[in-house]
Amino acid sequence: DIAYVNGAYTPLEDAKISILDRGFLFADGVYEVAAVIDGRLVDNAAHLARLERSLKELRLECPASMQEIVEIEKTLVARNGIAEGMVYLQITRGAAERDFAFPKGVKPTLIAFTQEKNILSSLYAEKGIRIVTVPDQRWARRDIKSVALLAQVLAKQAASEAGCQEAWMVGPDGYITEGSSSTAFIITKAGAIVTRPNSEAILPGCTRLSVLALAAEHGLDVAERAFTAEEAYEAAEAFLTSASNLVLPIVSIDGRAIGDGKPGPHATRLRALYLDFAR
Ligand code: PDD
Repeated sequence: DIAYVNGAYTPLEDAKISILDRGFLFADGVYEVAAVIDGRLVDNAAHLARLERSLKELRLECPASMQEIVEIEKTLVARNGIAEGMVYLQITRGAAERDFAFPKGVKPTLIAFTQEKNILSSLYAEKGIRIVTVPDQRWARRDIKSVALLAQVLAKQAASEAGCQEAWMVGPDGYITEGSSSTAFIITKAGAIVTRPNSEAILPGCTRLSVLALAAEHGLDVAERAFTAEEAYEAAEAFLTSASNLVLPIVSIDGRAIGDGKPGPHATRLRALYLDFAR
């Protein structure tokens, strides 16, 4: 595989950055992940819009135009022969002598690589996933897609050690914020699709936005409000959305079966609708 580093395409194993890079020392950077299906980027305009927003919020200057970034993404997908998988992009405030405040006259670091992954036919899409809840230990600007992911690493590890595939984080307000790398949804017994409204408490998911639009288009009932783990235990269905997993049904939360313990009809339908939209 080849990767992109600051203007050059190089074999992945030769792709290197400085140990003084501020992404490495301070997690001073942002990233994006977009899915690739049939060799094409999925919902990429939304990902690039979010990237621009993350950069602006952190006053990070992008070393390339969005048009150049799309070219880099497409080049990597083509040269690495990715039919199904994802493209990862990261921009940090560059390499400079270690000092907390912004360095002057330093060019940001831009890197990108691809990963192959089965997204369309996933075992978990058929049998559903199990999740656990953990406290949300992140900072207050979770709307920025920053590379500071330690709380999410610990949350995913807790899920893994519990034999689960994802963790839903419970915010200081007692309500679920989101998954460690996905947006959280439940479907009430009355059939309403419930997900937390966008705010600084969660990442504004690109897949979330498209799924909500598809749900509304198909006459499904949508309610943007926060919910607790206790409400989720009693829900008819639960599911998550993310670029890397699209829509995945959830069959248990904290060891309690959701609905009849099988992927629910709404989640299954939303996954199918999203796949149609993505292809
Ligand atoms: N994660 N919430 C968090 C905390 C996330 O990290 C992600 C995505 C999402 C879903 O956003 P989207 O639908 O735009 O992918 C929600 C990516 C996939 C990752 O870190 O790998």
